Amino acid sequence: MSKRSLRKEEHLLLAKKLFNPNQDSDFNKVHLFRPALPETEVNSTSIQTLFLNKVVSAPFFVNAMTGGSQKSFEINKRLAQACAQENIAMSLGSASILEKEPNQLDSFLIARQENPNGLLFANVNPNTDPQVAKRIVHELQADALQIHLNVLQEIVMPEGDRNFYWLDNMQEIRQQVDVPIIVKEVGAGIPLDSLRTLIDNKFDIIDIGGSGGTNFSQIENQRRQDSEFSFVDNLGLSTTKCLLSAKKINVPKTLIASGGITDALQIFKALVLGANYVGIANLFLQYASMSKESLVERIRSFKKQLTALCAIFGIDSIDDASSIKYYLDTDLISFINQLS
Ligand code: FNR
Repeated sequence: MSKRSLRKEEHLLLAKKLFNPNQDSDFNKVHLFRPALPETEVNSTSIQTLFLNKVVSAPFFVNAMTGGSQKSFEINKRLAQACAQENIAMSLGSASILEKEPNQLDSFLIARQENPNGLLFANVNPNTDPQVAKRIVHELQADALQIHLNVLQEIVMPEGDRNFYWLDNMQEIRQQVDVPIIVKEVGAGIPLDSLRTLIDNKFDIIDIGGSGGTNFSQIENQRRQDSEFSFVDNLGLSTTKCLLSAKKINVPKTLIASGGITDALQIFKALVLGANYVGIANLFLQYASMSKESLVERIRSFKKQLTALCAIFGIDSIDDASSIKYYLDTDLISFINQLS
């Protein structure tokens, strides 16, 4: 197995080892006002929505995880089968490995083969050769391309990048590919000033990828022999705080929330705070590792719970979630007051 494939498999193992759905979450500091007279009914189509011009049955999706190794072939197969069955969107893990190892294509391609008509995103790092990014989008017939921002992860990795002049290449990638670009963090969050930079540079689909769930510095620190960079683990900004930051400005055309989202109420709160869609990675990975069927069951249950939440909170469509009123605990108010 190549060093890169081995790293992909180690990420899968460490994600499982470190998975903790009961982490303290800033979403607990967001409280929704519930109408006593919602004047609604439970309706399964209330959570259906449009995502990049395709109808999906729910606003949550499987966020980027894997590809480029034997184990990831099976994982991507199960994820894609479940997404096809349930009609939700899915992103593949970084395909930048194909730059050096084109023979790993099958572990990505399997997702498109299992879900020929579904919404599928490819994913690359911001240094990827724009021509390679173009080829990847074409080969996977991707509906969009995610570019991941992962400075903390790279810093902790002894073999990681040390050059973070990314914007020019990101623009080049955008010029080369003919599908929408989604810029995402990988679990450390995109703060207000970086959101402004992205929007100024016309990146208008942004996944704020906040902390509170999978922590990639922690994963990479577990791969190291020493603890020289363990301080990096706590440099992230929570998903809730990133969403509140985005409220300060003209939010991007499409705002995606991800990072530490593990239950239906958190999905719902993210939408109330202004997200259009919600990405979930490690939780879905753990279900997919058990079986495709358990993942399908988890997705169905989320849908049922979200449908109930729409009725409880008096909205006929999940697209209206941002109209729901809420109040915040004092430390979130203090955070907002310090934004400039
Ligand atoms: C990831 N994530 C990720 N993100 C990305 O943009 N490219 C990638 O290749 C990967 N690889 C990857 C592997 C594994 C095993 C996991 C669990 C995650 C990050 C992922 O998309 C997401 O941003 C974070 O995991 C935070 O979301 P959760 O896991 O807290 O829901």
